[in-house]
Amino acid sequence: MKKIDKSALFLKEHLDLFRCPVCASDFKNVIGNQLICGENHTYNLSKKGTIYFLMKPSKTEYSREMLLSRQRIAKMGFWKPMLDVLYPLINKNNGVTLDAGCGEGAHSAYLKEKGLKGPVIAFDISKEGINLGAATYSSPFFVVADLAQSPFQTSKFDTILNILSPSNYDEFDRLLKENGRVIKVVPGKNYLTELRSFQTLSKQTYSNEEVKNKFMEHFKNVENYPVNYTVELTDEEISDFLKMTPLAWNIDIPKTKYEKLRRITIDMEILVGNKTIEE
Ligand SMILES: C[S@@+](CC[C@H](N)C(=O)[O-])C[C@H]1O[C@@H](n2cnc3c(N)ncnc32)[C@H](O)[C@@H]1O
Ligand SMILES: [Zn+2]
Repeated sequence: MKKIDKSALFLKEHLDLFRCPVCASDFKNVIGNQLICGENHTYNLSKKGTIYFLMKPSKTEYSREMLLSRQRIAKMGFWKPMLDVLYPLINKNNGVTLDAGCGEGAHSAYLKEKGLKGPVIAFDISKEGINLGAATYSSPFFVVADLAQSPFQTSKFDTILNILSPSNYDEFDRLLKENGRVIKVVPGKNYLTELRSFQTLSKQTYSNEEVKNKFMEHFKNVENYPVNYTVELTDEEISDFLKMTPLAWNIDIPKTKYEKLRRITIDMEILVGNKTIEE
């Protein structure tokens, strides 16, 4: 089946998960490849099976080249140990999952491939990221949208995934079901420490305290799963690694220094929080 037809089917089946980002009314219908809201605002499915919901194009700092590098790094298993810890945390729910700020979607695609059940929608403000994801993976369902004006219906999501991405907790609350939860992945203080050592002194240390405190103030029953491991990179992978992370964009690291980046530390925390108190 063509991607566009597969996506039209997904939309028909899960129309209740979406709402118009302009007028917030329900979507009544998918006619052909067009989604139409109660106020007649229309959104077209692209050939790749994605939907574009932005009111105006957004300029993001992530170029296609950077996204391709990020995708190759994902493919070589850079985040796999973290995702393997995350998977059982999300799968408990077996419900509807939203990946907020999915980039090129490798994480959701991996979780889906691993057996994640239920519909998974992945969205990002970067059209390039969504296009690349939709061209590469058959699942999740990919959407271009802004967290600040999201095209999703109120109280329909069991899990919101938020991996190394910005968040909007008020919007997350609106989208989550009463017993829904957010799984947020944040860098720990030693995340990519080998790369940080090339940075100016002020950027060599990092603390996630503020982010964590904000999460704990907002959500209930917060659990914290630290994940620590190292990844060995080849020269080619080091080049991709340097392109894919904003942390390296302002520094020039010659190949003669690659030995210092041969083994990279991944230090992350997976925060899980409930919208309401779980009995
Ligand atoms: C560091 S990337 C992480 C991407 C992906 N989760 C990953 O781990 O590979 C942060 C992502 O957040 C997205 N983003 C930033 N602001 C956003 C917004 N307002 N709405 C949706 N996505 C946004 C960016 O486009 C980018 O893809
Ligand atoms: Zn509308």
